Amino acid sequence: FARYAPYIREINRLKREKNAVILAHNYMTPEIYHGVADVVGDSLQLAIEATKVEAQTIVQCGVHFMAETSKILNPSKTVLIPDMQAGCSLAESITAEGIAEMRAKYPGAPVVSYVNTTAEVKAASDICCTSSNAAQIVAALPEDMIIMTPDQYLAQNVAAQVPQKKVVWWAGSCIVHEQYTAKDINDFRALHPDTRIIAHPECPPDVVNASDFSGSTSGIISYVEREKPKEAMLVTECSMASNIADALPEVDFVGPCNMCPYMKKITLEKILWSLHTGTAEVIVDPAIAEKARVAVERMIELSQ
Ligand code: 13P
Ligand code: SF4
Repeated sequence: FARYAPYIREINRLKREKNAVILAHNYMTPEIYHGVADVVGDSLQLAIEATKVEAQTIVQCGVHFMAETSKILNPSKTVLIPDMQAGCSLAESITAEGIAEMRAKYPGAPVVSYVNTTAEVKAASDICCTSSNAAQIVAALPEDMIIMTPDQYLAQNVAAQVPQKKVVWWAGSCIVHEQYTAKDINDFRALHPDTRIIAHPECPPDVVNASDFSGSTSGIISYVEREKPKEAMLVTECSMASNIADALPEVDFVGPCNMCPYMKKITLEKILWSLHTGTAEVIVDPAIAEKARVAVERMIELSQ
C-alpha cells in the first residue's frame, strides 16, 4: 500500500479543494476502495447515494453506465469518469432499437432493463433493476409477461425466483460471470466440501444453483460478514475478496476469480488526472436523461 500513499494523499487533498466526492463500486481495487472512496457499494447503493451528493463534482470510480446513472439522477452535478473506455459487455449488447424489437415481439409486456445499460436504453425501458432488486421488481409488476434486458442469465435466475411470471430475455451476458461453469463449481466442491460458494446472479443459472448463495456485490459482502464461513469462494470479480479479506481474518478466501477488464481501467493515476483536469465529463442528452430518470426512479421507489 505504501507505494500508493502519495497518490492517495493527493487525491484526498484535491477532493477537498475541488469539492468532489468519489463514488466507488465494490469491484474497485483495494487502494481505491479503502484509500480514496467516500462511498462504496453495489449499483443500487451507488445510484441512491448519487441522489444525495451535495458536493459539486462526482468522480465515478466504476464503469460508464454507473457514471451516466449518477448524472441522470443528479443532473446539476459535474460527473467525471477517470477513463471513458470503462465500458461493460452487457451495456454494449443492446441499443434502443433492440428494446423496440423486443416490444414488437412481445406486445404489451413491460421492459425491465438492468442498470448495466446506456441512458438511451434506460429511456426506452419501463423500469430498471439491479441484481439486488430484480426479482422484487419483476414480481411487483402487474403484467404476467415481462421482458428483461440485456442479461439473459440474470433474467433466467429471476425467472426461477418468480415462477408466477413468464420472463423473456435479450441474449446479452457479462464477460466476467459467463466464464464460470457448473462443472467448475462442482469440481471445486468435491475437493473442498466445506467451502461456502457464493455467486453473483450474472452467472449462468446452473452455476447459481450449484452455489450456496447468490446476491448482488453488496449482498455477497453482507452474507460473508454475517456468516463468517471458514472458507469462502466468491464466484465474481477478483477485487471483491481483496477488499474485504483484511476485515475478515477468520475467513479464508479460496478458489479462482475473474477480472473485469473494464472496471480495472480505473486506477489511482487516472483518478488523480481526472480531478486535476476536470475530465472526462459524462454528458447525457437532457431529453434522454429525463426519460431514463423515470425508469431509474421507478426502480428506486419499488425497491424501498
Ligand atoms: P452489482 O449491482 O451487484 O454491484 O453488480 C454490478 C456489476 O456490474 C456486476 O458485474
Ligand atoms: Fe459489466 Fe460484467 Fe464488468 Fe460488471 S463485471 S461491469 S457486468 S462486464
